[in-house]
Amino acid sequence: MKPSLAASWLFGFVVACSPATHEPLEPDPNYSVKPLASVTAEPSASVATPPPGVRWMPKGAAEAPRVALGTKGAVTSQEANATDIGIEILKQGGTAVDAAIAVGFALAVTHPSAGNIGGGGFMVVRMNDGTKAALDYRETAPSGASRDMYLDKAGKETKESKLGPKAAGIPGTVAGFAAAHEKFGKLPWKDLVAPAIKLAKEGFPIDKVLAEDLVKVTGQMREAKFDSTAKLFEKPGGGALAEGDKLVQGDLAKVLETIAKDGAKAFYEGKLADSMAKEVTKAGGIWKSADLKAYKAKWRDPIVFTYKGNEIVTMPPPSSGGVVLKEMLVMSELLGIDKKPWRSADEVHLFSEVMRRAYADRNYLLGDPDYVKMPLAKLSDPAYLKERVANVDPKKATKSDTVKPGVEPKLESPQTTHYSVVDEAGNAVSNTYTLNTGYGSKFAVPGTGVLLNNEMNDFAVVPGKPNTYGLVQGELNRVEPGKRMLSSMTPTIISKDGQLRAVLGTPGGPTITTTVAQITRALLDYGITLDKATSAFRAHHQWQPDQIWAEPTMPDDVMKELEARGHTVKRERQMGHANGIEVDPETHGFRAVSDTTRKGGKAAAY
Ligand code: DON
Repeated sequence: MKPSLAASWLFGFVVACSPATHEPLEPDPNYSVKPLASVTAEPSASVATPPPGVRWMPKGAAEAPRVALGTKGAVTSQEANATDIGIEILKQGGTAVDAAIAVGFALAVTHPSAGNIGGGGFMVVRMNDGTKAALDYRETAPSGASRDMYLDKAGKETKESKLGPKAAGIPGTVAGFAAAHEKFGKLPWKDLVAPAIKLAKEGFPIDKVLAEDLVKVTGQMREAKFDSTAKLFEKPGGGALAEGDKLVQGDLAKVLETIAKDGAKAFYEGKLADSMAKEVTKAGGIWKSADLKAYKAKWRDPIVFTYKGNEIVTMPPPSSGGVVLKEMLVMSELLGIDKKPWRSADEVHLFSEVMRRAYADRNYLLGDPDYVKMPLAKLSDPAYLKERVANVDPKKATKSDTVKPGVEPKLESPQTTHYSVVDEAGNAVSNTYTLNTGYGSKFAVPGTGVLLNNEMNDFAVVPGKPNTYGLVQGELNRVEPGKRMLSSMTPTIISKDGQLRAVLGTPGGPTITTTVAQITRALLDYGITLDKATSAFRAHHQWQPDQIWAEPTMPDDVMKELEARGHTVKRERQMGHANGIEVDPETHGFRAVSDTTRKGGKAAAY
């Protein structure tokens, strides 16, 4: 390493890992500090070949770098333009939160299946002075919503919680970003929206992943008669825009310009808000101007707990993520799962037993904290969790029916999106936001280019019946006016001895929390680096239906052994898109990983 590089690395290390001071500090003697060059930048070779005939990653995936190393800042997201914008904002002196906001606005333009201003999400922040915060910008049910609004006269569930304007909750993203900016931002708000405006106005070339998506989704939009929405993604003469074509979004650019100039308020009050409410209602939805005006992003107390000497900061309700993550990690520790080799049948079996039990709790006991009472203390009480795992048999699967009843679900492809940002000072942002399923309700407010979410389906639309993810949920999560629907999103930040260790999260519906838990365990139980932890096969159990979903790369011998123990194993498709960053415990360098083997994305660091 050249002296100047070594010096800049050391400077980066000191700044990245020190508390909120710009005084130069000595490296922590407890860490063996190696030059960053020794951090392996090679993508892990551990991605096994899927069995013949099993769908794995789409063509064109994994073209962008999967691992990026740096000491001053790192960003990883599901789309390359957005990642680059995040890095640019960091280089301009923005905080990790500034960069996260800019990435979020950019994804609303470049990753329309999940990036959004018409949806909502959660942001977990950990500043280098130890400040921890959890921002809830989840959508709310419109004031006209009611428990049975998605049942027809015969009492049968309609499609309306998934498709079209009636599926849309009141969006939280713009209010959320404004709240984050107010508390933790440094650069002017308009500078964070500007890169997204440019991309929307000038357009950007469509890559293979987006092109494949657009063929499918424009067909669905046309079928639903959302012609003006389909047109946003079609060529002037008809047919979806293809790879290499430019996606220009003039209406969206105008909305973003209004937000840049007049602030988040312009999205919730006044001309734009009134016209959105009017258009949604005209198309069969139930938004009122007053619903938008009433929307508030909320700061919640994050869930903070210790796992093996590491501090985990994660999202509380209305996400189930943090509660379930904590349950699963504590139960794993109680069962001593870390003694079993990583991804062995023994380890996956025991962890499946843990997932099964945690999800049985999730589905009936959690909801919006402003509407329902939840037994949160009990769910994290070690005595309760000890009791919960007392009947785990190391050699035999428990029958979920003996835990509680359920029904057959369907797994969705990852259409939420997660990104992670770390800045030079060591401030970290973990942000997961969503339109729910891909392209949300498939309906954009006419004249705005704003695609709306179909988050209403995250409520127990018919309590006791499965939602689109097969989750069977109870009355605590029923539809009520103004209420937030229960989520699985699990943005999470890990630190050790006051120093940042990892920023994690993923999309994937109910597989979100189990994926975050598995990556956390790979890092903390097994000392596996984040690139390898990310590419390892994932397994998911959600109590009902009583089966393990496994990625295609689960080896045959592991699958057979799990079946021999009484599990039904479905080896189907990839789960999630976990874009995380770790601070290498040895070098203190940032290792940003994009989950490109599971579709698109880019990690960048400097
Ligand atoms: O909030 C939730 O839990 C869901 N709306 C997330 C949806 C998701 O991750 C889509 N991908 N499968």
